[in-house]
Amino acid sequence: MPGVRPLTKILVDGGDPDETLRVRNLFGFVDGQTTNPTFVAKNPDVQRLIASGRKLTWDEQKEEYKKIVQRISPLVGNAGVSIEVFADFNTSAEEMLAQGKEMFSWIPNAYIKYPCIYEGLRAAKMSVQQGMRVNMTLCFSQEQAAAVYAATKGAKEPVYVSPFVGRLDDRGDDGMGVVANIKKIYQDGDGHVHVLAASFRKLEHLLYSFALGAELATSPAKILEQWAAAGFPLPDQNFRYQAVDKNGNALRPIPYKQLELNASWESFDLKHELTDQGIKKFVDDYKSTLKSAA
Ligand code: E4P
Repeated sequence: MPGVRPLTKILVDGGDPDETLRVRNLFGFVDGQTTNPTFVAKNPDVQRLIASGRKLTWDEQKEEYKKIVQRISPLVGNAGVSIEVFADFNTSAEEMLAQGKEMFSWIPNAYIKYPCIYEGLRAAKMSVQQGMRVNMTLCFSQEQAAAVYAATKGAKEPVYVSPFVGRLDDRGDDGMGVVANIKKIYQDGDGHVHVLAASFRKLEHLLYSFALGAELATSPAKILEQWAAAGFPLPDQNFRYQAVDKNGNALRPIPYKQLELNASWESFDLKHELTDQGIKKFVDDYKSTLKSAA
């Protein structure tokens, strides 16, 4: 258990309740959990079904997802469990909202994940107006984060935005730079959006999220176990984040942009190719467990 807990809430990024329990036993707590369609497809029970030659119907898949989050829900603290709606490029905001409403009823501490695309933002706006908690996922740019802020203004509970650090690093861009830029632009705001740093590849991502003051950080269990093995170090004034890829090559800096947070959410440029690729991958992984894909 860490001697001093960071101010950043710590979430497990995955879809296996046994993993969450393992981290909880090691840490003495887990603040929350993020799940996504890829993690659900990789869940051991789902994998066992697939290995036995069974493919699932949409409803069975949904039931599996529900079982997973219902097991995780009591294991985590007040950062909740993020559950992702199924969304492809044709899914309307109303369809996302209908799924979100149902998922929100599965557990008492749900956050509904919508993608940072136009329809996802529209679904988020309607959701917060109806009192639902949301986590805006597949965020890769400061513009998308500004749009999340503008679209969810007035939310009664904190809205999460999840910048995906590792996927930017993977292509040579400095993912942590986006987290820093979002934190900076939100300084001028009302604090209703919390930054949930995500898509970690290494322990330094977690430590730098603490140093940047991200409200939340979600991490694969493996990295959390590395943190524990290292004695739960916290970044001090000597901590320097090295923006390098796995071969030690410098990552491209992502410059800060001056944006007007109070502009209308539709005025921000939401387009990011990694968001589109992310949606495609989630759809593919989701469908890989389904009968219709057999
Ligand atoms: C969290 O909410 C995300 O779904 C997750 O961090 C994605 O990480 P990946 O880039 O490792 O798939």
